[in-house]
Order: sequence, then structure tokens, then C-alpha cells
Amino acid sequence: MCGIVGFIGNQQAYPILIKGLKRLEYRGYDSSGVSMIENQEFNQYKCKGKVADLEALVSGKDISGTIGIGHTRWATHGVPNDVNAHPHLSGDGNLSLIHNGIIENYATLKEALMEQGHVFKSDTDTEVLVHFIEDIMSKTGSDLFEAVRVALCEVVGAYAIVVMDRRHPNRLVCAKKSSPLVIGIGAEGDYFIASDATPFIEYTKNVVYLEDEEVALIDRQSGLKIVTIQNQQKDPYIHELELKLEAIEKGGYDSFMLKEIHEQPRSIHDSIRGRLNLNHGMLKMSGIDRHEEIWMNANRIIIVACGTSWHAGLVAEYLFEEFARIPTEVEYASEFRYRDPIIQQGDIVIAISQSGETADTLAAIELAKEKGAFIFGVCNVVGSTISRATHSGAYTHAGPEIGVASTKAFTAQVAVLYLIALSVADKRGTLSKERLHRLMAELSTIPDKVEEVLKTNDLVESIAAIYKDHRNALYLGRGYSFPVALEGALKLKEISYIHAEGYPAAEMKHGPIALIDEEMPVFVIATQGHSYEKVVSNIQEVKARKGKIIAIVTAGDKTVSELADHSIEIPKTDDSLVPIVSVIPLQLLSYHVAVMRGCNVDQPRNLAKSVTVE
Ligand code: F6R
Repeated sequence: MCGIVGFIGNQQAYPILIKGLKRLEYRGYDSSGVSMIENQEFNQYKCKGKVADLEALVSGKDISGTIGIGHTRWATHGVPNDVNAHPHLSGDGNLSLIHNGIIENYATLKEALMEQGHVFKSDTDTEVLVHFIEDIMSKTGSDLFEAVRVALCEVVGAYAIVVMDRRHPNRLVCAKKSSPLVIGIGAEGDYFIASDATPFIEYTKNVVYLEDEEVALIDRQSGLKIVTIQNQQKDPYIHELELKLEAIEKGGYDSFMLKEIHEQPRSIHDSIRGRLNLNHGMLKMSGIDRHEEIWMNANRIIIVACGTSWHAGLVAEYLFEEFARIPTEVEYASEFRYRDPIIQQGDIVIAISQSGETADTLAAIELAKEKGAFIFGVCNVVGSTISRATHSGAYTHAGPEIGVASTKAFTAQVAVLYLIALSVADKRGTLSKERLHRLMAELSTIPDKVEEVLKTNDLVESIAAIYKDHRNALYLGRGYSFPVALEGALKLKEISYIHAEGYPAAEMKHGPIALIDEEMPVFVIATQGHSYEKVVSNIQEVKARKGKIIAIVTAGDKTVSELADHSIEIPKTDDSLVPIVSVIPLQLLSYHVAVMRGCNVDQPRNLAKSVTVE
């Protein structure tokens, strides 16, 4: 969602801000803006549309200044237009502010400010906040840093903000709660602020992650100072980033999504490397080992996540129940948090999140924590809010995922959850050593099997060409393949805007079968294994009603291939590992369909990469 960039230092701010905004485009947005201070005046520009539109707007205008802020807005309060775009100015024109998040009590604050004569130009909650800060400054005589702190004590909601005062171009103030903000400390007095480290990674690897309810002052003379909104001084803790510039570039591919699909052999390998020792038949999951007792005594696992991460959670449900024999429930984080869930002794909550910033997942964690649960995180972004909010966890090592549609993060999540399930099963003695070693060995072959499946790209592209103009699609799977059906449907709808539904194959006859006719493509994960024969019967049911079958089958399969209109072969593997391999052709299919339909695969309409609002 909204992207934030700020700079203060010894270079011109605009080129850094604009490059930073381009790097944050992946988060999803509909308008953008920048503001720099030069000679105690703002050079401020903003407009609806893409960063390229902003560049066109500023062309030939004064963009000078060594302090500045930039923003990409994903509309919440007010339609995407030039006026609602950030930055927003205070009523006296002295302050300029950018914001990510939602100020929930903005209406009350706005009413009170209007009674005092404040006039608002936009529909945003952000403009209310900057007027509120101005109001505090004028009433109390406090400086910007103090006024921001005081204002935020009154604010209910989520925010990451950066604000500057044109009269004091030596200072930048930023703060956060429930929305991410990271400060980069560069050479020779350069400071960078951003929603994540990607905008400034070529300048510095030294970063400070601001914690919730912290306010930071960056002063050209005195450097960085952090206090809580309750005015407690904090010592900045400097982390060293491992992120590399190549990881956030397209590397010769047409899109990040295609690059990320092709990166999966490596990202899965990186996620299991060092954790799987086949020679000694050992698993090393330090997040599990450190809390062995808790896992040994677990009575129930509750998985909370959203979207694709929730689908990975569904796969994990099968894994934990089959391997570790622990009853497992998978919850949409947004539902879990809004009821009064029962947490009992021995419950473990696993939160899965690629970005580590998803607001609903974070809120579910906080709720489960309050109720005394042990929280284990599976995140991709190192240092993210969720990774820091959990008691323990395991990172997926997928590398930065820039394409909005999650691909490599999903397969890495399933691989890491697989390791967790095996490791817990090993400790609890619920799997025979022989089966455990067989599964470990099979897991280690998965990167090569994924490489093999990627070779089906041309075949998948030709199938995409046949179905690209269809308006609906059904995805079916059973057992471990049911979550893959859901994920395949989600991939298609989010990037190609074709309506698609995923179902457990057996559920078809309880309703969706009514949709089947010669116009309905039905994608079926029909690999050989536990419920193969049953899936074959489901395929027959579709064929009897003239539906078109596109089947993902085990290499060498004859039965399904003869029934299906098209079949895509994947290498044989254990049922429990099929999701990682079978999802690949479905990712490729969605990609090709979307490209053929002229859609922007990396930044689909209305979607944001990191959903930091509820
Ligand atoms: C779909 C997709 C989303 C995310 C969801 C959760 O392709 O990317 O459904 O999976 O928004 O995001 P994270 O995993 O960052 O919590």
C-alpha cells in the first residue's frame, strides 16, 4: 500500500525520492507526489496516476532541495485525484506531511479543527493530521518534533508519517504505528526514510527499524533522536541489511512476476538449505529447537494469515495433522481478530506473511498474544513488523518479492512449513525414522522438480492462448491439492481479472457443477496419489457436461491425459509435496493469460503488495 520516501542530507533530494518511489511502485498505488524545501519554500508537486505522470508534471519546474519527502498513495479516504494525493500541507502552508495508514478518529479531529476555523481541501484523513500538528504548534509554541509526538498521543489508528517544516529545513520528523518505516543511515550525514529498505539500498546497509509509537527526529547537526509518544528516549539500534540491489531488479525478464516464478528452484533451495541435513538425517529449525517444550506439549495449532499465505496455511494444516498429529485450524486473520477466539493452554499460533506487514495478521497476533498464546512467525521480509512481534519463527528465504501476485513466497512458505512439520513430528516421535528420512530426501529433490516443471512454459502458454478470452474458470483439487486449486484461482483472478473459483473437487456436485458447460474451463490437479481415482471420477462428471478439462498430471499418466482436453505433466513426488510442484504451471498460466489480455501483471488494478490497512 502507500509508499513513503524521505531524504535529508548533502545531495539533491528529488532524484533519490523519485527513484525510491519507483522502487515502491510494487506496493500498489493510484497517485503520487513529492515535496522538497529550497530557500524555506516548498517545491511540491502531486498528481493522480503513476510516478511517470509525476515526472512529466515536474518537468521544467524547480525541484531543488536537499531535504524532501515522496509518496505513492493507495486511496482509502477519498478517490484517487490530484487533491487527495500526498503530500498534504498544513493550513498555514508551513508543514508538509505524507502518511501511510488510516487515522480512525479523523472525523472527530476534523470536526474540532473546523470549529476552530481550519479549512480542508481534500477528503483525506492525512490532511486532518497535518492541520492537527499545526494547531498544536501554534497553541503550545512547541517545535515540530514535540508537536508530532503530542498529536500522535491523540491519534487512533495506523500511521507511518514523515513531516517537514519549511521554516526549518534542517529537520525531518517521522513516526510509525502498525505501518512500516525504516531509516537508512548513509555516509556523511545523509539520512533516508522509507516504507522498506528498497529505495535506498545502494546508499546504505545500515538501518534503524522504527518501532510502534516511536517518533524520530533527524537533524542535520545532531543526527538521529528517537522518543516514544510517551516521551521516553530510545537508543537507535542499527541493523545491517543483507539485501542486494540485483534482488530488486528485473534481471532481463519482462516482469517481476515472471522473474519470480523462474526463481523458485533457487528460492525453495535457499529456504531449505542449512535446515536439512540428509547425511545425518537431521533437521535444524532453530526457532523450533529453542522452544522444544512448547512444541512437545502443543495441543492445537491455529494458523492465521491472509490471501496466498492463508493458502500456504491450508497446506500446513494437512502437514501438521498428518506428520505431527497436532489438531490444526487455519483462520483468515481478519475473521480471527474480530471474534472472541478461544485460546487455551498448549495452543500455538502460527502467523504466515510474506511482507510481515499485513495489518489483519498483525492484529490477530496481538490478540492471540493478549490471550496468552505462543506465537510463531513465518515471514519473508527480515526485520518486518510481524517477524518482530512473534515469540519465535522461521524465515522463508525467497528474497524480495516485488510482483504483487505472490508466487515464490508461496512455495517458500510451504517448504518452510514442511520443515517445521517434519521437525515437530521428529521431536514428538509421530513419524517413523524411515518415513521421516524419505520425506526429507524427497523435499531436497523439489528444487530440481520445480526446474523441470518450468520447462512446460511453452505448453502452458499455448493453453493460455486458448482460454484467455473466457470469462470464468473453475479450479479443483482434493487433499493437498485443494489449497492449490484455491491458489490457482486466486492467481488467475488477481492478475487477469477473469472470475475464477477454487473448490475441493468433491464439492463440485454440491453446487458448482451447475456452472459447467462447454464454455467452462476446469483446471484439475489430478496427480497420482491418495485420491487419484476419486479425482478421475470428478473429471468424468465435468466431461459428461461438456466442460473443458485442463489437468495437472503425474509424468507418464495415461488415464487422465486421455480424458482431459489438455494435460500438463509434473514429476512424481509424495502427495504432501505436490502443492509446491503443481502450483507452478498454474502460476505460469495466469501470467500468460494476463499478458495476452494486456494486463499489468506486476501491478494489477486495485491491489497492493503490502496490505497495511484493515
Ligand atoms: C496474492 C497475494 C495476497 C497476499 C496477502 C497476504 O497473490 O499476494 O493475497 O498473500 O495480501 O500478504 P502477506 O503474505 O504479505 O501477509
